[in-house]
Amino acid sequence: MNLFNKKPFIAGNWKLHKNISESIQLAKSIKQGTNKKEGAEIVIIPPYVSLSEVKKTLLKSNILLGAQNVFWEESGAYTGEISPSMIKDAGCDFVIVGHSERRQYFGDTDERVNKKVKAVLSAGLHPIVCIGETLEERENNKTMDKVRAQITKGLKGINQDQISDVIIAYEPIWAIGTGRTATPKQAEKVHEFIRNQLEEMVGKDTSSCAIILYGGSVKPKNAFSLIKEKNINGALIGGASLEADSFVEIIEEAKKAYKEK
Ligand code: PGA
Repeated sequence: MNLFNKKPFIAGNWKLHKNISESIQLAKSIKQGTNKKEGAEIVIIPPYVSLSEVKKTLLKSNILLGAQNVFWEESGAYTGEISPSMIKDAGCDFVIVGHSERRQYFGDTDERVNKKVKAVLSAGLHPIVCIGETLEERENNKTMDKVRAQITKGLKGINQDQISDVIIAYEPIWAIGTGRTATPKQAEKVHEFIRNQLEEMVGKDTSSCAIILYGGSVKPKNAFSLIKEKNINGALIGGASLEADSFVEIIEEAKKAYKEK
């Protein structure tokens, strides 16, 4: 699948929520709510155990599937891990790599993120690479340094062709699950910086098409103003993706925002 940012990209990260039957139910409601509507790329990202069942539910819809994490080895004695090809086999096109919760609680460093990104790309999946600063880093004017380091280390050794398969999600840690959102201007400033970083790495042609998502307390009421910003191509949504109504409303707001860009 070729990635481009001509339409908004809206992804719902369900985190550690919804058992299998609840996942099927939510996927069904989102499918009904979006009803094959064009104009947005929609991805839902349930827990591993629900992936195959949700995939069946999504047949005959335009909604795509993603996983929340991955290991970099293809097989072996790694109890509890899941490989990129297993994720692909379950019906996914996307996988989140380096979410701040994985960095915070499960030891994902930039080096591990880099290994995962490479393995995911080799398997023909698209990584959604999460980056973002803590509140302390923002208050000490370290946001751009942090984001630059995460991009250069996380995407180290990845060539121009492969970078076009990568999605970046800028998620300021202080905005995740807190109800506190970056203002559109604050977010845009970092998104522009990220696009410029990508341009330095792979040139303007690739960087101008790159999908750069905002994440951190995106809700129906703030989605329009965020996604209307020039360098914000969509959203990675946690809490508000757990209810079909709010998730579908965000998709509609995103479509409106894109029309006005
Ligand atoms: P949130 O989560 O929308 O609940 O803030 C976003 C994320 O962690 O991807």
